Amino acid sequence: MTDDDKALRLALAERLAAGGYLRTAPWRAAVEEVPRHEFLRGGFFERADGPGPTAWRPVLPDDPRWLARCYDDDSLVTQIAGTIVPRDIRGEIMRAPTSSRTLPSLVVRMLEDLQVEDGHRVQEIGTGYSTGLLCARLGDSLVTSMEVDAGVSASANIALGACGYFPELVVGDGLAGHPGGAPYDRTIATCGVTDLPYAWVEQTRPGGLILATLCGWLHSSELARLTVAEDGTARGTFLGGQISFMLARPQLPPPLDNLPAFDNGEERTAVLAPDVLDDWSTRFVAQIAAPRAQRISLDRDGRTEHVLLDADAGAWAVLTQDGDTWTVRQGGPERLWDAVEDHVTRWKADGAPPLERFEVTVTPEGQVITWSKV
Ligand SMILES: C[S@@+](CC[C@H](N)C(=O)[O-])C[C@H]1O[C@@H](n2cnc3c(N)ncnc32)[C@H](O)[C@@H]1O
Repeated sequence: MTDDDKALRLALAERLAAGGYLRTAPWRAAVEEVPRHEFLRGGFFERADGPGPTAWRPVLPDDPRWLARCYDDDSLVTQIAGTIVPRDIRGEIMRAPTSSRTLPSLVVRMLEDLQVEDGHRVQEIGTGYSTGLLCARLGDSLVTSMEVDAGVSASANIALGACGYFPELVVGDGLAGHPGGAPYDRTIATCGVTDLPYAWVEQTRPGGLILATLCGWLHSSELARLTVAEDGTARGTFLGGQISFMLARPQLPPPLDNLPAFDNGEERTAVLAPDVLDDWSTRFVAQIAAPRAQRISLDRDGRTEHVLLDADAGAWAVLTQDGDTWTVRQGGPERLWDAVEDHVTRWKADGAPPLERFEVTVTPEGQVITWSKV
């Protein structure tokens, strides 16, 4: 560590405190202590400006901007397409990011929301800078971190070692948790999930907390905090803030490579137009109704078709506009737009309660999300 990076750490802590993300002294001390650049020794990708699909360009530690950029309040992409790291690329690449160093303001907001106390044992899903902060705050012997990607875990291991931290690192699917270290006082996920795994409830002690971002394939998501009850269930609410995260790998949506013809469906006048899905909260409600649906738009015969498609089940809904009227054509084993209209209409009739008034319950049978009337 050098005076340069110490000054950068202090400045980052100051910025996060001024922004209201860093709220307590022990977490501030952790941000001041942990060198984020150790977790970015392999470089990162930055977005290349230009028209068309997003392209990514590597920034390596020999770039004069690298050190300062490591302490920006920015999410920095560290892996693309499941395997490609910055050193693999010269020029630009146009594929989807698969691992990143999370936005520092989001990491510390989540760590504050985790409400840890001295002596707490924490299970974390997604290993990296956040693991370093947990070690600084609690002591590395109380931290277990799971990472699905062996390469990401190995480089985080080197970075943590350089900081003097040796937590238990497990390579594997964090959705199964790590029962060997249970019970935990806290479980935190730094990747998004579509369904909160019951394993986390089983492995967190009664009275303990689970913090994770509930995401969906329509791209609306919310941070949830649940308390584990004595009866082996967990219940909680959303904390607000429109947080988004990379999805846990086993819960990524299937690729949309073989689109059905969208013919021979049942047709009716739609009650709701597809632009209801442009609103974050409405989209979240729609996701509850059609959790396996993905949204695409197609230009066919000179007009735009707005499509919801559940690729695994083969269910689809296509919305097209005729003047002021929308028509929906639906096919497959489920009527996706019927389900969306039913949920959204009931939610609006209940006063369109904000997502903070929703409740999430996880039992051995699965996850249920409900809302209460305004
Ligand atoms: C946004 S990154 C956060 C990394 C880290 N917490 C940090 O602060 O730098 C999300 C991480 O979750 C990991 N991940 C995705 N699915 C996972 C799973 N099922 N189990 C464990 N880790 C997973 C990804 O490989 C990725 O490294």
